[in-house]
Amino acid sequence: MNQDRPGIFEEIREFPDAAAARRFASLYGLEQTKDRLLKEARLLLDPESLSAWSRKHHGKKIQIGDFFRDRPPLFIFAGDVGTGKTALAETFGDAIARDAGINVTLFELSLNTRGTGAVGEMTSLISAAFAEVRGHARKAASRDGKHRSGIILLIDEADALAQSRDLSQMHHEDRAGVNALIRGVDDLATGSLPAIVVMCTNRVDALDPAVRRRAAATFTFSRPNDSQRRALLDPLLEEVGFTKAQIQSVVDATGPTNGRDYGYTYSDLTQRLLPGLLLAAYPSKPITFDMAKQVVDSHPPTPPFNGQSQWATQNRKRFRSRRSSSAFSNRWRRS
Ligand SMILES: Nc1ncnc2c1ncn2[C@@H]1O[C@H](COP(=O)(O)OP(=O)(O)OP(=O)(O)O)[C@@H](O)[C@H]1O
Ligand SMILES: [Mg+2]
Repeated sequence: MNQDRPGIFEEIREFPDAAAARRFASLYGLEQTKDRLLKEARLLLDPESLSAWSRKHHGKKIQIGDFFRDRPPLFIFAGDVGTGKTALAETFGDAIARDAGINVTLFELSLNTRGTGAVGEMTSLISAAFAEVRGHARKAASRDGKHRSGIILLIDEADALAQSRDLSQMHHEDRAGVNALIRGVDDLATGSLPAIVVMCTNRVDALDPAVRRRAAATFTFSRPNDSQRRALLDPLLEEVGFTKAQIQSVVDATGPTNGRDYGYTYSDLTQRLLPGLLLAAYPSKPITFDMAKQVVDSHPPTPPFNGQSQWATQNRKRFRSRRSSSAFSNRWRRS
């Protein structure tokens, strides 16, 4: 790595990587997103596969392929908290590496923990990140034939940067950061380099229109619905002896219920509820349905990100006080 500029990236990962493959496979409810993303990203990082397809099925390189190739290599992952945006962005490079038979390197820039507001800092960070990614992509590129490897630049928590330039209160410095980002994406596109940029955000509406317009695709992530929560919970709870009716009760209680218009996020389930259940039982008891009721009541779901649900914002205060008195108890069925 470039020793001159230590610390531009939070993380640099190389694929294929077995741990990433496992994490990618464990993301539920994202089948359509995964399929489309892998196709899109593979065509950008491995354009030779597009030529091969074109020759095989149309006998030559078809012109539609040029339009595809010339799109800015930008994907936006937008949506609610804890729904897998970062997890997918950090792992899909592994699937591409395996499909395309190339190495893929992920450079991860988290703006959340960056940019203390010092003049020029955000802009130079973004410019430096793109310069470095461009350098790697040039080395990996092949004029004709297959690229040697592919590069992914992940800009997580991108709302920090790509706010709409229209906002009157927007600081001059932020504007310059947005411009640096747009220039960086455009440079990658015109060079036909094997690099793609993924931006994750909770607030796609707040992104600059010029950034949004450049996105080859915007993927929307949401909380799991009933059947997605059931798909996740069913095998895990069945294994510890829950009946189907008991599992359904947990599925119901973790959905929008009791006047709350939102259910549990994926991370509420996998990182809070299920570990909470285990901790309630360990070390002296088995996991039981009664325990699950208590754990659900004591682990309410994360409210949606500000602005996504006006209802939630208005009622958050009211709910906070209700939660303490086991707000969901009356939802439990007799099982
Ligand atoms: N679709 C999913 N299937 C299974 N587990 C998930 C899913 N989405 C999230 N998780 C779990 O929640 C954790 C946090 O998810 P992640 O960081 O990707 O959320 P996010 O969408 O980036 O949220 P934020 O907007 O708060 O950054 C993941 O590491 C994973 O354990
Ligand atoms: Mg995230």
